[in-house]
Amino acid sequence: MTADEQKKAAAIRALEYVKPGMKLGLGTGSTAEHFVRALGEKVAQGLDVVCVPTSERTGKLAASLGIALSNLDDTPHLDITVDGADELDRDLRLIKGGGGALLREKIVATASERMIVIADASKVVERLGDFPLPVEVIPFGAAVTARRIAEVAGQFDCTGKLSRRADEYGEPFFTDSENFIYDCTFGEIPDPDGLAAALNLIPGVVDNGLFIGIAALAIVGMPSGTDIIEKT
Ligand code: 5RP
Repeated sequence: MTADEQKKAAAIRALEYVKPGMKLGLGTGSTAEHFVRALGEKVAQGLDVVCVPTSERTGKLAASLGIALSNLDDTPHLDITVDGADELDRDLRLIKGGGGALLREKIVATASERMIVIADASKVVERLGDFPLPVEVIPFGAAVTARRIAEVAGQFDCTGKLSRRADEYGEPFFTDSENFIYDCTFGEIPDPDGLAAALNLIPGVVDNGLFIGIAALAIVGMPSGTDIIEKT
């Protein structure tokens, strides 16, 4: 299977965890999109679920497929969130935010009984950090916040370039919450748990793309079939 076929296979397997009447969080990105489309087919056949999307983009897609949508104010407790990842390790620690939705993704995932990650095989790594870590920062004083991020990361043996994300026109990229993202090219992150906690203490940092202790299960599309990684 190609990487995209692996994403789709993982997404379709995730449907096995969805039961009628459930409240679901819908992730963002190409893998999550496969799940939303597959879910849309089930809804068209009569499956009754209510979903909270993690981005405007996912919300639009889900609405176009006739999926009933809600928000966390009206639906604060979700059964399952199904979302992709940029990297995951065998302890189900993740890097997310390649699509810029990390903040809402983390809020929705932690409002869920269970976060299920769906991914192609290339996303599974021994150590996190090859994928640049996204850190969401409020625009006010962003350059100062970025310097502080670099200092704090250095205390965790993470050094490298911090680049403010740009859109396809070279303009600053804004998240759905009107913030900036700094992509931090640290390479291997020796202590993801410590770094995740320390980054979020910096004034101006809204959140970072390390998801620690949040995912309960991952479904990984393989060259043939799918594998499950479960929390031990
Ligand atoms: C978006 C994300 C995505 O889940 C992550 O970037 C993976 O994307 P894709 O499924 O397209 O590979 O975190 O913010």
